[in-house]
Amino acid sequence: MDWGLQNRIHRMFSPASGNTVMLAVDHGYFMGPTRHLENARATIAPLAPHADALALTRGILRHAVDPTLTTPIVLRVSGGATILKEDLSDEALTTSIEDAVRLNVSAVAMSVFVGAPHEHESLVHLAELVDRGEQYGVPVMAITAVGKELAKRDARYLSLACRVSAELGAHLVKTYYCEDFGQVVEGCPVPLVVAGGPKLDSDRAALELARNAIDEGAHGIDMGRNIWQSEHPVAMLKALRAIVHDKATVREALDILSREKGTPKAKNAPTTA
Ligand code: 5RP
Repeated sequence: MDWGLQNRIHRMFSPASGNTVMLAVDHGYFMGPTRHLENARATIAPLAPHADALALTRGILRHAVDPTLTTPIVLRVSGGATILKEDLSDEALTTSIEDAVRLNVSAVAMSVFVGAPHEHESLVHLAELVDRGEQYGVPVMAITAVGKELAKRDARYLSLACRVSAELGAHLVKTYYCEDFGQVVEGCPVPLVVAGGPKLDSDRAALELARNAIDEGAHGIDMGRNIWQSEHPVAMLKALRAIVHDKATVREALDILSREKGTPKAKNAPTTA
C-alpha cells in the first residue's frame, strides 16, 4: 500500500486502540434535511472535535464546516437517488477524485447495493473509484447500503456485501451490526466499521450495539442518528468513544453519559456489558 494511502488511513484510526469513531452526517444526500440535521452547521460544530473522522458530502463540507477543522474527512462521493424513488440503488459517482483531493479528504466513500436493481453499476463504480483513489493515494470506504428493497440485514447478506466490496478493492467497509456479526468480520479482509441505523429506543441500546460490534471484531463505528438525534449528542459521542477506544463496558459508558449530561449516574442498570 502506498505511503499516502496508508497515512490517510492512519489519520482516522487511533494508534492506541486501532479503532475509529466516525461521525456520519451525510444523510441529507438522499434524505434531505433529516431530523436534527436541518441546520448541519449547528449540529456538526460541537460534535466534530470529538470525532476521529466526519463522514459527509462536499456540499455540507464546503457550506457547513469551518475549514480550520483538523478532524479527518470521509467524503461521500456517490448519490443520484432520493427517498422519493422506490429504487435507492440508482446511484453514480457524484464527485471527482480531484475534488476530493482538493478538499484534503482522508478517504472517499460510496454505497454499494448488492442484490438491488443497480447492483452491477454500483459494484463497477466501486472498482472505478478504487482505481482513481489508488492513483492519488486516497482510500475508499464501501458502504453496504440496505435500500428499501433490501430489508434483510443478516450475517449471510452482509458477509456477501462486505466481501464483494473488499474483493473489488475497498480499503474499508461500513456495514450494519447483525446477529453473528463475527461471521461478517471473518469473511472480510479489510477493517469494518458499523453504522447505527435509525434512532434506537434508547442511548443504552446504541451503546450496546457499539460494544457488541467492537467485541465481535469491528474496528469502529460510523454512526449518525443515534448520536445527533440523542437528547445529549456530545455526551453520547464521548460515551461511544469510551466503548470504541477504552474498552468501556456499557455500564461505564452510561456513567460517562450521565456525567457528561450533568445528571446523576443511571440507577438500577445491569452491571454487565
Ligand atoms: C447514509 C449513510 C449513513 O452515514 C450511515 O447509515 C450511518 O448513519 P446512521 O448511524 O444514522 O445509520 O451511509 O446512507
